[in-house]
Amino acid sequence: MRLGKAEELMLRGYYGESCKKAIKLILTIADSYGCGTTIKIRSAHVSGVSYKNIGDPGIEFLKDMSREGCKVRVKTTMNPCGFDLDKPWLFDVDEPFFKKQMEIIELLKSMGVEPTLSCTPYYADNKPRKGDHVAWAESSAVVYVNSVIGAYTNRESGPSALAAAITGRTAMTKEHKEDRGPEVKVEAPLAVRDCADWGILGYLIGLKVPSQVPLLLLRKGYTRESLKYLAAGLGTSSSTSMFLLDEVGWSSRKLEEVQIDQPEIADIYDRWALTRTPSLVFIGCPHCSLGELRAIAERLRGRKVKKDVRLLISTSRSVYAEAARRGLVAAIERAGAHLVKDTCLVVSPIKLSKDDVVLTDSAKAAHYAETMTSSNISIGKRWRCIEEALGS
Ligand code: F3S
Repeated sequence: MRLGKAEELMLRGYYGESCKKAIKLILTIADSYGCGTTIKIRSAHVSGVSYKNIGDPGIEFLKDMSREGCKVRVKTTMNPCGFDLDKPWLFDVDEPFFKKQMEIIELLKSMGVEPTLSCTPYYADNKPRKGDHVAWAESSAVVYVNSVIGAYTNRESGPSALAAAITGRTAMTKEHKEDRGPEVKVEAPLAVRDCADWGILGYLIGLKVPSQVPLLLLRKGYTRESLKYLAAGLGTSSSTSMFLLDEVGWSSRKLEEVQIDQPEIADIYDRWALTRTPSLVFIGCPHCSLGELRAIAERLRGRKVKKDVRLLISTSRSVYAEAARRGLVAAIERAGAHLVKDTCLVVSPIKLSKDDVVLTDSAKAAHYAETMTSSNISIGKRWRCIEEALGS
């Protein structure tokens, strides 16, 4: 492999052992999946932040990387951790978990990673521009920045995103090429409006197209918000890092064709149907935008969450701060809902029993919640979820 001057110095250990390990990882990936070379990046987003996900081996890895005062070379943000740093008690966090989680955050901070703790950093904390090459982990964000923003990123893992941040470069793969094009045509001109529908549509597309880049032929009327949910669903059921919309005449290409029909969406709602009153309603996978919080606050005005139901709504720190300034946090919490930041249902150690009934408007959250608990998991449209949580 042909190396640049900086890469050679990193490999020789000129910038320390951690940086040497990081560049070795990037070069190994470039060798096996890429075009045998690297590309400079403008930003990184690191996943694998929750102690629930990475455990003690993850802490050891971070300790190893943070030795010798190793620092990231580009703007780097963090995915959610195991609890809201200001309300850990909402997530059944015990002392050992609390300490280990804080250790992870401190280790990342010591390397210069910003404690943004969100899966939607593109709203405020880390905003790639069209054409930027970045190294992001977190599948929903990867699919979103490639497909909606038009930046270029591999579907990085937590360790590879951190290695990219430390070296300032990542493996040059087909995801970083300007001519990345579609591989399968997906016809789905459906009447999907709710964010739950969009998440399910993405999830269905991923089930039918598990690894290729789909060209989506959708009915007009989608928004960036709709595509956020579609990206999260798609990233859950497939290994793709992006989708394309028919905005540059891709549809004239001859490609394998796949169809998604309206009844398939209904089948997913049936599979995850609500059979009893929920004990926990979860909204905010991926983290809610300010616009979503405004609409939720409006919906909750003058209403109260039932005593035996928890309504959990998750967002990012920065969106939370803006929502607080605009009185939305107070409005949401007045109704008895919990607006939380830094975390989500899936990456938190929240305890759920087999008697719990969880209702969410996110296909991604439902998919992962089902793997981590014996509780009954169901999917509903957003306002149905909220109404199920409300008493009056
Ligand atoms: Fe974000 Fe958690 Fe969903 S990290 S995408 S809210 S599973």
